[in-house]
Amino acid sequence: MNKKILIKNGTVVTASDTFKADILIEGEKVKAIGQNLQEKPDQEFDAQGCYVFPGGIDAHTHLDLPFMGTSSSDDFETGTLAALHGGTTSIIDFAFQSKKKSLKEGLAAWHEKAKGKAVGDYAFHMAVTDFNSETAKEIKELIQKEGVTSFKTFMAYKGAIMIDDQQMIALMNECKKWGGLVTVHAENGDLVDSLIQSSREVGNLAPRFHALTRPEIVESEATGRALDLAYSGNHPIYIVHMTCESALNRVREATKRNQQVLVETCVQYLLLDDSLYDLPNFEGSKWVMSPPLRKKKDQDALWKGINQNLVHTVATDHCPFCMDQKKMGIDDFSKIPNGAPGIENRMELMFSEGVLKNRISLNQYVAINCTAPAKIFGLYPQKGTIAVGSDADIVLFDPKKKHVITQETQHMRCDYSSYEGWEVTGKVRTVFLRGNLAIDQGKAFIGKGFGKFIPRKPFSQSNPF
Ligand code: URP
Ligand code: ZN
Ligand code: ZN
Repeated sequence: MNKKILIKNGTVVTASDTFKADILIEGEKVKAIGQNLQEKPDQEFDAQGCYVFPGGIDAHTHLDLPFMGTSSSDDFETGTLAALHGGTTSIIDFAFQSKKKSLKEGLAAWHEKAKGKAVGDYAFHMAVTDFNSETAKEIKELIQKEGVTSFKTFMAYKGAIMIDDQQMIALMNECKKWGGLVTVHAENGDLVDSLIQSSREVGNLAPRFHALTRPEIVESEATGRALDLAYSGNHPIYIVHMTCESALNRVREATKRNQQVLVETCVQYLLLDDSLYDLPNFEGSKWVMSPPLRKKKDQDALWKGINQNLVHTVATDHCPFCMDQKKMGIDDFSKIPNGAPGIENRMELMFSEGVLKNRISLNQYVAINCTAPAKIFGLYPQKGTIAVGSDADIVLFDPKKKHVITQETQHMRCDYSSYEGWEVTGKVRTVFLRGNLAIDQGKAFIGKGFGKFIPRKPFSQSNPF
């Protein structure tokens, strides 16, 4: 017999509605939603005073990623557990193809990293770093048999993971046949390398030169080029971690020719700015990520972009490195491993800074953090909403509870927090993952290996919204 859990008296919030209701969970699924449900449950939770949100979906994470001579410090156990503590029940991580190896080998390696370790649910995008005629043959199988339906391309990190325009066009063409979605890290790799070389030549080697060698034009040029390539073949495209006004304006322009463009930003680009790179004692290295943090005007543009439906999802690009790893670049910013922690903080920060500061509505909050990533990446309606028949991935969220973000209490395996000392209103109280109590009042009730791989559906070219 499946266990029955009743969540009573909460305010349910979906991407479209906010209403008082009880939720009955049976086994892994939502069985009923309604007022004063009379069913006799095995266990009852009182959600009085709480919002009841769908579990968050972070569509951009890097757990256990070998990168720039080291590996991201969270693995699938610590990373997904930290995510659950912060109200994120599913992630979409990036499996990487190695040079001269097949996509399937890369995917198998990521399954190996996650299986038996992940606490929360996970899916994979495939990062295509060596596209050729053999790789092309694998796309169909990944989409149809492996449940991997989105493909990441890097327009930067030349000589490592970057692919050229010809490869990107060929990948888009192949994806179109089978319903794959191409996603793009949009930075002009050649321009970055040239700016880094000039900076090094004159001895400008401190962390702040990371940002100065990746100015807005690096991103806006690549964004525009990626959009043009997609447009030329009538392909949908998803731009990952957009940071700045000029890149967003390229998207705005593209929509005028009725192009289908999907845009992700990350919480750090909405909340943090490039003044952090000026901190003394190598502190700025904590935020060395690509693209870099920008200016306040870019944050404003991104928040407005959400309201203009130009920005559809908010992820984290969680890619943490501890300070001893960051110190690989103590004498040269270009050797600082790129990335920062954030998987645990996204849902609470977006509520406190987004909803409570009236930058987004409560329903938009659910849309950008839960529903849109599920719809775009083929997880909906299993994930990303609260509906009868959906997975019972549910967060009880106390909107009044104040707390301070600090490394001392975080679950992410990183020796700093990107948001140290930030005062936040609103806290995750209880989390259910597929009907199982996962987190309650900061305590975990599930562990290593509970997380499941979730195969995804192909991208639907009709508007995913
Ligand atoms: O700095 C970043 N973003 N590190 C992770 C890899 C990537 O580019 O997404
Ligand atoms: Zn990237
Ligand atoms: Zn990334």
